[in-house]
Amino acid sequence: MVAKKREYGYIERDKINKGGMLMKIILYIVLAAIVIGGISGGLHLWKVAKKNAQEMAPFAELKPQSLDKNKKILVIYYSLTGHTQDIAERIKAQTNADLYAIKLKQALPTSFMAYYQIWKQYKDKRFPEVKGTMPDINEYDLVILGSPVWMYTVSTPMQSFLKGADFKKKPLAIYSTQGSNPGSFFTDMKKAIKNANVISEIEFNNLPKKYDEALNIKINQWLAQTIAKVK
Ligand SMILES: Cc1cc2nc3c(=O)[nH]c(=O)nc-3n(C[C@H](O)[C@H](O)[C@H](O)COP(=O)(O)O)c2cc1C
Repeated sequence: MVAKKREYGYIERDKINKGGMLMKIILYIVLAAIVIGGISGGLHLWKVAKKNAQEMAPFAELKPQSLDKNKKILVIYYSLTGHTQDIAERIKAQTNADLYAIKLKQALPTSFMAYYQIWKQYKDKRFPEVKGTMPDINEYDLVILGSPVWMYTVSTPMQSFLKGADFKKKPLAIYSTQGSNPGSFFTDMKKAIKNANVISEIEFNNLPKKYDEALNIKINQWLAQTIAKVK
C-alpha cells in the first residue's frame, strides 16, 4: 500500500514536471515571437522612414510653380482616418478645386475594430453602400480620385462608389495614400473605373509633419504636370 502511494506520488510529480516544462517552452516561444516581431516591425519602420526621407529631400529644394487656375477641378475622395482628405485639401488650397467626400450609409468605426470589419468586407466581397449624389462631372475639366490603400488594393468604399459611377472618358488623375505599400492599387483602380481616361497617377505615403512643405511641392509638381495634359 505504502509502495503504491509512493508510486502515485512519483507519477504526479512527473506530470507536474512535464507540465511545468511545457509551460516554460510555450512562454519562451511567445517571448521569442514578441522579440522577433518587435525587431522586424522596428526594422520595417526604419526602412520606410529612410525611403520617405530620400523621396522627399529633392522636393524640399524646389519652389512651387504657379498653376493654371482656369481649369475646373473636382476631387472625389474617401477617407477614414484623414490622410486622403488632407491631400484633397492641399490640392484645393493650390487650385481652388471642389471637394466631394464619399460617405457611407453606415460609417465604419475609426477604432481598431475597423480592421476586422474591413477584412470581412474583402473576404465576403460585400462592400459598404455609399450615400449621396456625386456632382455633375460635365462641369469640370479634370476629376481627381483619391483613396486609401487597404489590404494592398483600393478601399472598399471607393470600390462601391466606382460601381455606381461612369466617368465618360473625362480626364482623370488618381492618387493613393498608404503606410508604405500600395500593392496593386493603381491596376485595380483603373480596372474599376468605368470609361476611364486616366492621365496621371501618384502615391503618397503617410508622412510626419516635418515633410509638410516638401509634400506641398510634391503635390504642386504633380498638379502642374497633370493640368498641362488637360486640353
Ligand atoms: C484596413 C486597413 C488596411 C490597410 N492596408 C494597407 C496596405 O495594404 N498598405 C499600406 O501601405 N497601408 C495600408 N493601410 C494604411 C492606410 O492605407 C493609410 O493609413 C491611409 O493613408 C489611410 O487613409 P485615410 O486616413 O484617408 O483613411 C491600411 C489601413 C487600414 C485601416
